[in-house]
Parts: sequence; C-alpha cells; structure tokens
Amino acid sequence: MDEVLDRLLDGEPVSGQALSEELGVTRAAVWKQIEQLRAQGFVIESEGRQGYRLTKCPDSLLAPVIARGLDTRWAGRSIVSLKSVDSTNRYARALAAQGAPAGTLVLAEEQTAGRGRRGRGWISPAGEGIFMTLILRPQAHPSQVAGLSLQTALAVARAIARETGLDARIKWPNDIVCGGRKVCGMLLEMNADEQSVIDVVAGIGINVHQRQFAPEIANTASSLDLLAGRRIPRAPLVRAFLEEFEAADALAAQGKDALMAAYRARSATLGQRVRVVSLTETFTGTAQEITDSGSLIVIDEQGARREVLAADVSVRGLMGYA
Ligand code: BTN
Repeated sequence: MDEVLDRLLDGEPVSGQALSEELGVTRAAVWKQIEQLRAQGFVIESEGRQGYRLTKCPDSLLAPVIARGLDTRWAGRSIVSLKSVDSTNRYARALAAQGAPAGTLVLAEEQTAGRGRRGRGWISPAGEGIFMTLILRPQAHPSQVAGLSLQTALAVARAIARETGLDARIKWPNDIVCGGRKVCGMLLEMNADEQSVIDVVAGIGINVHQRQFAPEIANTASSLDLLAGRRIPRAPLVRAFLEEFEAADALAAQGKDALMAAYRARSATLGQRVRVVSLTETFTGTAQEITDSGSLIVIDEQGARREVLAADVSVRGLMGYA
C-alpha cells in the first residue's frame, strides 16, 4: 500500500496499468490497494484512461505521508506506521534489539497499553493523538543520557510552537505545557551495559484532537486543537519534530551550554516557584538549574541547594498549582 500511496502523493494522475508495471503487481492488486486507501479517507478519483488521482489526503500517519517533504538526514528516514499496538516504546525496543538503525520512527494510531512515567499509563485513543517512539543510538556513557531527554523535550516544544503558534514550554523533566496545561509527555528508556549505551527509545505522546479527558487528568491536560482553536494536522507536526530533533542534536554537539541555553529559553520551570513532592518529602522553593545528570536543583525556603532526582514538581501558575 505504501508504494501505491507514495506514487499517488506525486499529485499526477497515474494509470492502473502503469502502477502495476512499476510496482510489479497485478492490476487487481493495485485496485485492492486503492480501495484500502479510500477506506482510510484518501479521496482518489478514477479519471478514465488517465487513471487514478489523489485529490484529498486525510489526517494520516502512514509512512509515505510523513516522509513527503521531510527535511532530515537520519531522523525518521525509516518509519513504521501501525494501526494499533500495545505500546510504541515496547515495539521500538524490540526493533532496536533486532538492529534497527538510529532514527527509526515507530508511530501508531492507537495504543492499547501506552506507558507513562513512574509506572503510570498513557491513554492513547485511536486517531486522537500522536503516539510515536524514535530509536536512538548515542555514542555515550549511560550517565550522559539525561542530555537526550532535554534534547527531545526541546525538539517537541519547538515543533509544537512552530506548527500551532502556541507558546509551548517544557516542565521539568519533560512534559510540554501550553496555556498552563499538559499537552505532551515523554518516556525515554535506555538499554545499556556498564560502559556504554546500546540504544535509547524516546517515546512521545502528544494530545492533538482530544476534546475530553479521563477525570484524573481533566483539570491538568488539554489538546492542541482545543488550545489553538483549530484542527491541527498531525503529519506536519511529526515532520517538524524530526527536523527539530536533528537541529537540537546539532546544538548538543556544540556542547552542553548551547543546548541548555535553548532549553532554558523554553523552560516553564527554571527560575519559577515550585513545589516538589517526592516519595519521602514535600517542599517549596525556586527552580535554579538542571545538572548534567538531568536532576533539578531547587533552592528551598531556607536557602539550601537541593537536588531533585525523581519527583512530581508543580510550577506555580501551571496545571492547577496556585
Ligand atoms: C508521561 O507519563 O508523561 C509520559 C508519557 C509517554 C507516552 C508515550 S506515547 C508513545 C510512547 N509509547 C508509550 O508506551 N509511551 C510513550
């Protein structure tokens, strides 16, 4: 189906005969694929002898749609687009274990067991969001992987801002918030031995078309459509993310300072009043910096410098924290 779609995306009419010859399949097989595409919302006109012409592309995440006009060297150069999967992170980890190259992107229309941070789930209804995982193979020591998390968050925030015009900000460690509400979460999982990283999968869930949320997140979550007041197409946003990821990668290659400066400019947390709730304690203070290992430094009310590794951090004025 991908090859037929790719050919139709050229925009010119193409005959069933030409398609069958170019792709080395029967005309009946071509017709079947055209019907499958139509069933997914692609409007394909049959123009007599001229053949088939694509006149309308739905809000699709099929690989050829994403690949059209993608301006990257390696990110998203191989795309696996699934209708339904338990978790794109789980799927990507299995692909990585089989040797999939860095930059391979796994996308799904729906996840039946989407994973969130800290053992939570990620609600992933069909056609409503972007559920994707990028496979990375950094030449790094396991302790340096925190930088990738900042880089991923920066790329997503920039992509959302670029495609929607919204002021997308990063809430530590890597939630993306717009208008005070969470629109995106990330889950990076690493596979490493003692000396080096073997692979990292960067899983990203973006709320795009959702209009309703489960009661437990209804007060803190929103979607890009709701916030932008218009329907945001998903494929251009995926492309923007891949392009921004490479741009952030180039920044990181210049050194931690360059990446941190760009991150800081998009941060919703640094410099803000925060409340930290960890398993063992709760305290308030001002978020000051993020260390090389990815922890957040908070100056508490007594002026003490506290390093926060894993906790829920609320930022004053965001997501219901007054
Ligand atoms: C969070 O808790 O904020 C992180 C959510 C991460 C969700 C994404 S959706 C795509 C990828 N696959 C998963 O199972 N999880 C991540």
